Amino acid sequence: MDHFHYVNGELHIEGVPASAIAEAHGSPVYVYSAQTFKDHCSVVRSAFSGLEPLICFSVKSCSNLAVLKLLVEQGCGLDVVSGGELYRALQAGAAPEKIVFAGVGKSREELTYAIDAGVFLFNAESEGELARIDEVARAAGKRVKAAVRVNPDVADADTHEKTSTGGRQTKFGVPLLRAEALFERNLYRHVDVVGIHVHLGSPIAATATYLAAIDKVEQLADRIEASGGKIEFINIGGGFPAHYRASEAREYCSLGEMGAAICDRLQGLKRRGKHFIIEPGRSISANAGILLTSVEYVKQGWERKIAIVDAGMNVLLRPTLYGASHAIWPASFGAFDGHWSALPGLGGTNDGEGFDAIDIVGPICETGDYFALGRAMPALDGGDLLAIFSCGAYGMSMASQYNSRGRPAEVMVEKDRQRLIRHRESYADLVAHELCGL
Ligand code: LLP
Repeated sequence: MDHFHYVNGELHIEGVPASAIAEAHGSPVYVYSAQTFKDHCSVVRSAFSGLEPLICFSVKSCSNLAVLKLLVEQGCGLDVVSGGELYRALQAGAAPEKIVFAGVGKSREELTYAIDAGVFLFNAESEGELARIDEVARAAGKRVKAAVRVNPDVADADTHEKTSTGGRQTKFGVPLLRAEALFERNLYRHVDVVGIHVHLGSPIAATATYLAAIDKVEQLADRIEASGGKIEFINIGGGFPAHYRASEAREYCSLGEMGAAICDRLQGLKRRGKHFIIEPGRSISANAGILLTSVEYVKQGWERKIAIVDAGMNVLLRPTLYGASHAIWPASFGAFDGHWSALPGLGGTNDGEGFDAIDIVGPICETGDYFALGRAMPALDGGDLLAIFSCGAYGMSMASQYNSRGRPAEVMVEKDRQRLIRHRESYADLVAHELCGL
């Protein structure tokens, strides 16, 4: 469970009213709960305790340095996918031996940086990349470890096509049948190919999808070891779900059940001495953050009322890009007491009795710039502060400056203290890198 509650009608993040954060830092603003991050680390750790895995938080889901530092202090390793994410990880104090480096197109420059930094394990995505890692490691006079990301041809029926990565038609990994050859002993002089990596997509709601892929990974490990190769690490990636709908948040035991089933299925490999890695992103960060945004105007459209808010698709892209549905509600609501998931009217479109159907849209000049269409909401007015829930993952990390709108501020709340962890971008920030001879 997370720490976003209404107290006498006012949304609080831990002990701090949402209104106090908007007053201090303006809107839009991403707000995170430190305690929720910590609790989610414990939930993930306990869900996968049967494997004692290295938990590498997926930096791409929420990459603010303060967040990474907090998670590193909780004992997490980090999963990075670029030189930039590796830089963040090191800045946040992550130990290189707890960093795994994934990503489909690692450049020579990125590999050089990672090998110099002493990154623990590379998740290689192709034959060509392994050859390049070998070459860069040779030049650096080092020997490194790699896992091969395999494409198991396992796809989850409910995962959005743009974030489903385990199917044969996607660009990810090495097709299972081609992978075996890469584990031949002494194929590379400076890379020990000792791990198998899979990441099926994000989020994966069905445990059966993981189990199907795990079976294929186990068979591959058997074949590799039967022909003289050696597997030390099994990395099952991320994709463990978060709670976007109120009903999901009310049934917060699902990760425990999913983890237990996955651990069970991997016990054979555990008994053979394999070490495990997981790369959770959203299951730790999504419900640890919300976006506060203010209503600028409410107008009557042809068919419905339209509330225009001060955040747009440049601030939170998920609804536009994936049709993602986030719970949205005014930060001030009568005398309601309790967790956000108990709010009346949450859980979809038009399901609230006595509420109006309204479009919640941003100020960007695109039709797709909306957070909800026809959503049942209490009557809104200009100046109202709204909370968009479950956007700690892939919210700020996917924000842009589109329409020359600066990215928002980020605030971390810990008990009754709020701390600015990223400034709102100014007009000067928007042009800071441009060279026009002025
Ligand atoms: N490991 C690898 C190799 C990944 O590619 C990803 C996510 C993860 C771990 C973490 O997945 P998670 O546990 O956070 O689901 N922008 C999309 C999600 C894209 C995910 C990309 N890879 C969204 O907003 O839903």
